[in-house]
Amino acid sequence: MLSIISNSAFVVPLASLVPPIPPFDRLHPLVVHFPIALVLVAPVFVLLAVALNRYARPLLLAATLLVAMGAVSAAVAVESGEAAEHYAEAVPAAAPVLDQHASLAKKARNAVFGLTGLMAICTLVVWRSKEPMARKQLSYIAGGTLAAWAGTSLLLANAAHEGGRLVHEFGVRAWAEPAAVPVTGQPPSSAGAPTRDGAPKPPGLISTMQDIDYAFARLEAAAKNNWQPAEGARPLEADAAEIAAALTVLKDNARVKAKPEEFLVWLLEDAAHAATLRDKLKAKAPAEEIKQAFTLLATGCDRCHNKYRE
Ligand code: HEC
Repeated sequence: MLSIISNSAFVVPLASLVPPIPPFDRLHPLVVHFPIALVLVAPVFVLLAVALNRYARPLLLAATLLVAMGAVSAAVAVESGEAAEHYAEAVPAAAPVLDQHASLAKKARNAVFGLTGLMAICTLVVWRSKEPMARKQLSYIAGGTLAAWAGTSLLLANAAHEGGRLVHEFGVRAWAEPAAVPVTGQPPSSAGAPTRDGAPKPPGLISTMQDIDYAFARLEAAAKNNWQPAEGARPLEADAAEIAAALTVLKDNARVKAKPEEFLVWLLEDAAHAATLRDKLKAKAPAEEIKQAFTLLATGCDRCHNKYRE
């Protein structure tokens, strides 16, 4: 045996057995299958718990653990999807589907977490019952669980379907460069398209919002400090200017274009508020005026988020 292993003909370089581990924004096509498979197999164990009620406790625990792992992987799927948004935004015709996909995926993730909580409570109830629970009682618990599971699975299936459309109908690839010619829609423009090495990426909705949020957080901190920038920080009007510019640039974003007219109006209104704040800061206006401009800007963020951010 040993001689076989040590025989050089059988020595396979270990590294060649392990496929490359993708960076986070390319992990999406891999991780999305975990929540689907984990959640879909869970009811088998719930039904077994009813059929074999003597073993209901470990079987329900197994079902709950499957769904819990589904929840964690759903969260990773959503995060990696957000990191990969630039791949899909490079295909403008796919924008409405991307919007639907992102929105359904977040709802599905939340539903899987909710289902995990419900199943954990059910498992606890069954676990704490003194005697093995009667089949009839168990079937009530299983019925409730399965109803919640069915709703969750429907959301998951719809989110997955929209994701599948992105890939198979629009040729979006979160691994390689965007497909040369998607079946539907325009070929993606090469301007700013992501390269295999990452940069340069076109400004995505989420990544732009994150940039805006950094600048906004600095302004928020300064608001508590009588509009003095932090030690060594750049002038505050630069932060306000950055928000104004970033919000304005978003008007060309594919997902923004796919949204109702109102979205664009609110976007540009908030960009205008940011520009007003920039001017007040630059002119060293009285703190009261600066505060007023900042409040308007912040209200603009909230108004849009309340309606359009899941
Ligand atoms: C006209 C609409 C609109 C305005 C104005 C707006 N946002 Fe957003 N923002 C969105 C939408 C839509 C999302 C969700 C994007 C998604 O997850 O698909 C979002 C997401 C975010 C996120 C979360 C990003 C993430 O990591 O998922 C942050 C942070 C954020 N916005 C900050 C701000 C701040 C700060 C302002 C104001 C200065 C602002 N936004 C103004 C529409 C808007």
